[in-house]
Amino acid sequence: MARVLVTRRLPDGGTEPLVTAGHEIIVREDDTPFSHAELCDAVRDVDAVVCLLTDPIDADVLEAGAPRLRVVANVAVGYDNVDVDAATAAGISVCNTPGVLDETTADLAFLLILAASRLASDAEGDLRNGRWAGWGINQYLGRDVHGATLGVIGYGRIGKAVARRAAGFGMQVLHHTRHDTGAPGWRADVDDLLRESDIVSLHVPLSTATTHLIDDRRLRLLRPDAVIVNTARGPVVDEEALATALEDGRIFAAGLDVFEREPEVHPRLLAAPRTVLLPHIGSASRATRTRMAQLACEGVVAVLAGDRPPNLVNA
Ligand code: DGY
Repeated sequence: MARVLVTRRLPDGGTEPLVTAGHEIIVREDDTPFSHAELCDAVRDVDAVVCLLTDPIDADVLEAGAPRLRVVANVAVGYDNVDVDAATAAGISVCNTPGVLDETTADLAFLLILAASRLASDAEGDLRNGRWAGWGINQYLGRDVHGATLGVIGYGRIGKAVARRAAGFGMQVLHHTRHDTGAPGWRADVDDLLRESDIVSLHVPLSTATTHLIDDRRLRLLRPDAVIVNTARGPVVDEEALATALEDGRIFAAGLDVFEREPEVHPRLLAAPRTVLLPHIGSASRATRTRMAQLACEGVVAVLAGDRPPNLVNA
């Protein structure tokens, strides 16, 4: 029996694979986030950690866990909160949760595409705050989603799931990846995709190469009626530059589920016009979050049994 630290309470049934394998689960009763020092302390004398994207698993934490710690499983597909190089150097496996959240996240990306394009937050805000005086022919004039050109940046599982939804709306889909996908609509250059798209949806992992991928220069390539949607990671977009573009009316609207400094939201984005903001809920359906937790725990069980899990990040 191994000892597994689970940093936060998981959805019901989420730890089932650990229970079935007979591992001891260590979880804080009050379900509060660990501070860095507490996390360093908590990982001593455990064989595995199941963590969330809000837990920075840096070199200090990994060092504190060594040599006993064998696997870190992040309950997210993105793993920019884990220092994978340091884990690899220490011989610690890292797992994530690919595949199980694609459709749920794509649903939310589409929700933002629709809500931002049709000014849903501004309109609902007026209604809720008593500012709606009745139907008006010039009110809340959005941009059509059907028939528009959608530019998908990052064409992995989630990007493709968004593209499938776009087909149902009669949209033309362009996509950018570093390597030619061979599929129609591939653009080698992000800049070309931005110039040609009406609506842009971001689906790249966060890395040094994708930090501020959408910066002031690139925002200026967008059409004045363009909509930008980010369900990937906040730092992929330069929020300062985005706020300016929205304030100046250089782009039409934005839909954001992720932010540069979560849970802080840039005050200028909070006040920006034609902006739909959600608190990082891309994968937040009960079924999907449960499956994510189980997949992370399955990774732990496999590594502890000496097997190589399919969701291993640092093969
Ligand atoms: C992820 O999995 O990386 C999302 O941001 C949370 O589901």
